[in-house]
Amino acid sequence: MSKSMEVNVGGIALRNPILVASGTFGAGLEALEQGVNLGAIGGVVTKSVTTQPRGGNPPPRICETPSGMLNSIGIMNPGVDVFIRDIMPQFAQLPCVRIVNVAGESAQDFEMLVSRFDDVSACDALELNVSCPNVSGGLDFGIDVALLESLVNRCRQRTRKPLWVKLTPNITDIVPIARAAVRGGADALALTNTYLGMAIDWRRKLPRLGSKLGVGGLSGPAIKPLSLYAVHKVARAVEVPIVGIGGIRDADDVMEFIVAGATAVQVGTSNFADPSAAVEIASALQSWIDDETISDLASYRQSLIVPRPHG
Ligand SMILES: Cc1cc2nc3c(=O)[nH]c(=O)nc-3n(C[C@H](O)[C@H](O)[C@H](O)COP(=O)(O)O)c2cc1C
Repeated sequence: MSKSMEVNVGGIALRNPILVASGTFGAGLEALEQGVNLGAIGGVVTKSVTTQPRGGNPPPRICETPSGMLNSIGIMNPGVDVFIRDIMPQFAQLPCVRIVNVAGESAQDFEMLVSRFDDVSACDALELNVSCPNVSGGLDFGIDVALLESLVNRCRQRTRKPLWVKLTPNITDIVPIARAAVRGGADALALTNTYLGMAIDWRRKLPRLGSKLGVGGLSGPAIKPLSLYAVHKVARAVEVPIVGIGGIRDADDVMEFIVAGATAVQVGTSNFADPSAAVEIASALQSWIDDETISDLASYRQSLIVPRPHG
């Protein structure tokens, strides 16, 4: 019999710690259609949903880089009304935990979005995207301690659902921001979103992305060491569970995040190479834990041995 990999993240039980990350898996419907066994992963986080439909940024919106990719999608989505009416009934059928990621341009937007989903039973938890580098003002809340605490607090008043807050790494020190989200009432922290970057076609003297200023968000294996460090720092500073995100490709990567302090992880860019990536990672993790003498993953969580300085 397989050992349990169940974890509890801020009020929700996941069958295993592997989720798919916002913006890299739609609402899971295409994967389901293609026969990807979503019953084998912990959960799906939707693309960010906004109050109004968004067409996204001008193309090109994606650019491959060594060990990663840049994107400047700009939160293209149909808006909350269409999402709840047309997508939610199908999202509700997913055989795993269903998390809706929301993004607002103002505190009122965020409050409206979380209250709209509060009555939607198939939404198991909400993830606040205060960290999008690809829309104007997308990072405002994620880089200001007072603003973020107040935002999370206001959202907390509007919903009984577990509230996860997804942080940006585009800040000098992520720890005060993480603490502010927790003071505001976050049940869990997801980190990180993408890292600001750009790519240049130097011969044409043009950015490779079509967004304003040619800026995008870097994701994929290139950011794993950076996100691991963020998880390590935040895990030592807050009490709530952490969901690690950044460049995860295999079960070893997952274990690195767990040892750094994560309770669960999200797989993002890897889904573009293989929509079954998260399922395969979950299966590899299960085989590994079944072969080990340990009884559960919790014994590895935040178990990093930090060498003492000499002298
Ligand atoms: C094409 C693309 C679109 C994304 N869209 C969103 C989004 O709408 N909302 C959000 O919170 N994060 C979004 N992200 C960020 C991912 O959820 C994730 O935090 C990031 O890509 C790092 O994980 P990875 O290295 O495994 O991809 C997007 C990432 C990519 C690559």
